[in-house]
Amino acid sequence: MDLSNILRHPAQNRDLRIRMPPHAIAAEQARTLTERVLDDWDLTPLRDNALLVVSELVTNAIKQRDIFLFALQRRGDTVLVEVTDMGPGLPTVRNAGETDTTGRGLFLVDAVCEEWGVRGEENGGKTVWAAVAK
Ligand SMILES: Nc1ncnc2c1ncn2[C@@H]1O[C@H](COP(=O)(O)OP(=O)(O)OP(=O)(O)O)[C@@H](O)[C@H]1O
Ligand SMILES: [Mg+2]
Repeated sequence: MDLSNILRHPAQNRDLRIRMPPHAIAAEQARTLTERVLDDWDLTPLRDNALLVVSELVTNAIKQRDIFLFALQRRGDTVLVEVTDMGPGLPTVRNAGETDTTGRGLFLVDAVCEEWGVRGEENGGKTVWAAVAK
């Protein structure tokens, strides 16, 4: 394996996996990382949809008020966004009314991704994942 090439382009061949604080700044950082990683993976056309998914999933995790995990994985031309938190409850798509100001996040995620879902983790947490394709 040519390590020097990987070190020159750290994100190119690797999945991203990072612990984040339950603070609004994490959403900003997650978006910036996503843009950078998609560029490195030559998946720039996924930018808008991926940024929407990342923003919504990370914002939901921040609301759980505990450190959470943010991950991006490349699967060919698809990017898999994963956000793992330790909060109670499960994500559910809400039927937001015209005047509701919240309850649209997962509805939008569902609209722009190929597939999304939730899986339980051994440590009691859960991972919300979404696959974004061209
Ligand atoms: N990570 C999570 N852990 C626990 N419950 C969640 C999580 N994400 C979403 N939910 C639940 O699913 C509901 C719908 O989430 P969604 O993102 O669509 O709406 P919202 O976060 O309430 O509002 P908005 O995203 O529009 O600001 C939330 O109100 C919450 O009850
Ligand atoms: Mg939300």
